[in-house]
Amino acid sequence: MKNQLIYSGKAKDIYATDDENVIISVYKDQATMLNGARKETIDGKGMLNNQISSFIFEKLNVEGIKTHFIKQISDNEQLNKKVDIIPLEVVLRNVAAGSFSKRFGVGEGLALENPIVEFYYKKDELNDPFINDEHVQFLNIASEEEIAYLKEETRRINKLLKEWFAKIGLQLIDFKLEFGRDAQGNIILADEFSPDNCRLWDVDGNHMDKDVFRRDLGSLTAAYQVVLDKLKELA
Ligand code: TMP
Repeated sequence: MKNQLIYSGKAKDIYATDDENVIISVYKDQATMLNGARKETIDGKGMLNNQISSFIFEKLNVEGIKTHFIKQISDNEQLNKKVDIIPLEVVLRNVAAGSFSKRFGVGEGLALENPIVEFYYKKDELNDPFINDEHVQFLNIASEEEIAYLKEETRRINKLLKEWFAKIGLQLIDFKLEFGRDAQGNIILADEFSPDNCRLWDVDGNHMDKDVFRRDLGSLTAAYQVVLDKLKELA
């Protein structure tokens, strides 16, 4: 079933299967930051992210969001539809934090009245630069209609996620999504949704996401385990 390795990323390895339209994603016990400049092995991280992402994608599928998720097949593996990844990091922000706070000089924690969607060009050699709609079109990454769809779908996903996390006492500050085109050319949600690519603050303002690693705030897996346990309360 699991054939050759077709891609090795920072957090996941991707394997081909006997079905050309299906891949296996293997979540790794690795944490990186600054485009891989800092890299650490964290036992158990892959398993936690696979479980968290599987849980969320399954719920998104139920809500009618088109995603690449088929099913979780082991602690650290899932079956996904094969897509061509659109080289964009689509970031949505509900609350100012991280690079937004730095770029615009606003304090972390300021609630944004209207959630803001940003695009970053996924290109390691260029350090994933911040780009706008016109750059996306210039680079032939997506058409005007596709850009509108990406933004609309991201806002729709935000509404669902924000509500789910609020129910378990976590505030969804911001997150990053990636989309891809399937064999029929449809744009569907791909990659993962885990505390590696979102910010979650608990009621006491504790960081329950990768900022624990980025800012050396304690045990990353302890925080991720709490997120997974809380999510299971929604099941
Ligand atoms: P930022 O504040 O560093 O721009 O990050 C915004 C959100 O996007 C945050 O939840 C972390 C996530 N993110 C990724 O998942 N991958 C990345 O490469 C970057 C820069 C951010």
